[in-house]
Amino acid sequence: MTQDEMKKAAGWAALNYVEKGGIVGVGTGSTVNHFIDALGTIKDEIKGAVSSSVASTEKLEALGIPVFDCNDVEKLNVYVDGADEINASRDMIKGGGAALTREKIVAAISDKFVCIVDDTKAVDVLGQFPLPVEVIPMAREQVARELKKLGGNPVYREGVVTDNGCDILDVHGLAITDPKALEITINAIVGVVTVGLFAARGADVVITGTPEGAKIEE
Ligand code: 5RP
Repeated sequence: MTQDEMKKAAGWAALNYVEKGGIVGVGTGSTVNHFIDALGTIKDEIKGAVSSSVASTEKLEALGIPVFDCNDVEKLNVYVDGADEINASRDMIKGGGAALTREKIVAAISDKFVCIVDDTKAVDVLGQFPLPVEVIPMAREQVARELKKLGGNPVYREGVVTDNGCDILDVHGLAITDPKALEITINAIVGVVTVGLFAARGADVVITGTPEGAKIEE
């Protein structure tokens, strides 16, 4: 099985968590794109979606799935999204697709976070994947200096502007042994919009695409 086939297996298995007649939270990325394809097959059975990025919104709308403004939805039953890394405590690194802030917002109004990954994403210690941090553009260098004090090596993701008009710093070289504490510390740096650590609000369900098919952990 290729990595993309494993992503597809995870994405389609997440359909079981979508409530009929409800609005579903939709993340961003290549694994989520498979989930959106799956969602298209039941589009007449759901009210619509709240999306975490312009890219996902465009794909949802192309399939005829109504997309609601997050401000018009108080609560979602379920949010389905991928991850760049996930540990045994279900803390995640996200933001490889630069959608981390909107992803965190949609996750925050959701009762259940269903994380869909292929089996290359599971790690013992988070941090081998460079940790994305979304920053206000004028604060980029000041935030980079603060991140260096934490032991990281921040690299400006050149040519990328987030859906919120901000920049991304990818922090290399961190072994993240206390994800909850680091999430709080980095979010407190002036100029940071969001860090791509999802530990305060981690995943509730993990669906892993493996060569044997989708493995579900509740
Ligand atoms: C986007 C994300 C994605 O969920 C993460 O990058 C995983 O992407 P993919 O499913 O393409 O491997 O956080 O900001």
